[in-house]
Amino acid sequence: MLVHYKDLFKNNLSGRFAIPAFNSHNLEITLGIIRAAVAKNAPVIVEAAANTVKYAGLNNIYSIVASVARDPSVTVPVALHLDHDKDPEEIARAVDAGFSSVMIDASHLPFEENIVVTRKVVEYAHSKGVWVQAELGRLRGNEDWVSVSEAEALYTDPAEAEEFVRRTKVDTLAIAVGTLHGIIKFRENIKPKIDIERIKKIKERLDIPLILHGASGIPADQIDAAIAAGICVINIDTELRMAFSQAVREAVKDENEIDPRKILKPAVDAVQKVCEFKLEEFHTAGKANEY
Ligand code: G3H
Ligand code: 13P
Ligand code: ZN
Repeated sequence: MLVHYKDLFKNNLSGRFAIPAFNSHNLEITLGIIRAAVAKNAPVIVEAAANTVKYAGLNNIYSIVASVARDPSVTVPVALHLDHDKDPEEIARAVDAGFSSVMIDASHLPFEENIVVTRKVVEYAHSKGVWVQAELGRLRGNEDWVSVSEAEALYTDPAEAEEFVRRTKVDTLAIAVGTLHGIIKFRENIKPKIDIERIKKIKERLDIPLILHGASGIPADQIDAAIAAGICVINIDTELRMAFSQAVREAVKDENEIDPRKILKPAVDAVQKVCEFKLEEFHTAGKANEY
């Protein structure tokens, strides 16, 4: 069933589990994600990033996810979120299209400017009953590679986080605590180390869900510690992209195969497998019973 993002946090997750936010770009990835959630009886967030909206079209990606989530066979709660958007006007269109949560990513801006832009998005989204996620601090990623010591300077400061949330009134906050976005972790064999103490310090000051971005490839022991410290949502895109593209590469090896369903069904299954694994790893499996 399609639910409002806020409904996933009606009960306090209390550090027992985190809800995965899986990035979808099309019907097949959406099917893989939602089938995994049903198989594991787990709540799930499906998110579409700004670049996915450009690729698929705002109403199309909304309708694909909403339609799969509303199928009567989907008895688990599914929420739809707009991920990493920098453009307040585009975010307003997503609010109007029906997303129940949107992310304004103004983390590249100085603190005060981030507040001004985020505040503007919050005013419009809240007038329509939609939740807002912002980001404070900066994650390393494919495009903005910096060394680890440089990255630490960009980690979220707990006192700033408290001030930021008070002044912007955001509903959820993405924090920079050592993870990084994208395939670079796998290609360069980077083993991120999450600053667990920093999560605890931020959690002590804030009573809203904290979001961990760039979480593909993080070992289970660090995920467990992050959840216990107060992380409520964990974003995964890269591992799904890897599973999807590897399955498609295998399927097109047979040059005689021209049936798109035979090419894409293994990719749906591969995405489902990764999602099921993550739902176990984040201790989300079985938690749909709590909603
Ligand atoms: O965290 C970022 C997501 O993986 C989206 O990436 O900008 O390539 O769509 P993208
Ligand atoms: P990964 O690139 O580690 O999968 O992170 C995804 C993400 O943060 C989406 O917002
Ligand atoms: Zn992200």
